[in-house]
Amino acid sequence: MHFQRVDHPVVQHKLTLLRDQRTRPKDFRDLLTEITMLLGYAATSGLPLRPLSVQTPVGIAEGALLVDPQPAIVPVLRAGLGMVEGMLRILPAATVGHIGLYRDPKTHAPVEYYQNLPPDIDRRHVFVVDPMLATGGSAAAAISIVRSAGARSVTLLCLVAAPEGVRVVDEQYPDVPIIGAALDERLNEHDYIVPGLGDAGDRLYGTL
Ligand code: PRP
Ligand code: URA
Repeated sequence: MHFQRVDHPVVQHKLTLLRDQRTRPKDFRDLLTEITMLLGYAATSGLPLRPLSVQTPVGIAEGALLVDPQPAIVPVLRAGLGMVEGMLRILPAATVGHIGLYRDPKTHAPVEYYQNLPPDIDRRHVFVVDPMLATGGSAAAAISIVRSAGARSVTLLCLVAAPEGVRVVDEQYPDVPIIGAALDERLNEHDYIVPGLGDAGDRLYGTL
């Protein structure tokens, strides 16, 4: 299965606090930002560099900078917005696109309602971010949208995944790595991840 779990004690600690139903929206947002920075560290390990020498006060350092244009971060609204700040802290020169999707209450299939992507997306590595990978419908739709806009190189960053969702993305986009903090047991009859953390958008924005 094409899922890379970031197996780090600090990530697991913060994820456990975040899953706890007593965690209020402000702490939920802070924890999601902190975990995203750690997931982002793992997810960006393959970004290309170009060499650059700089003069330090003491000598010449043979360094390297990220190749321009820098990546695009594409959150899936709403809950993906909770991962933007963490990604921007490690990639402050990234650009941010947005995709609006919601799950139809009856069919649980994704419905698109908004799209705003950088025009030069074909030149950037794209990080699609969404905390929940449940049936995989939203993630697959988001990847399809960025691909149709020209993206060639895409990584999916999530917090909690269900095996069903990983399978769907894997089958449709075997070249898209999926990086997350946990692979949970299963989906329930409402297509919520078990044990998961509930509705990520509601917990982020206090709309429970
Ligand atoms: C949630 C979540 C994902 C989607 C995952 O969004 O943020 O986008 O569900 O489910 P899937 O893998 O079965 O598609 P939701 O539709 O609840 O919208 P919201 O973020 O606006 O609340
Ligand atoms: N969306 C969520 O926010 N949580 C789930 O468990 C599944 C879909």
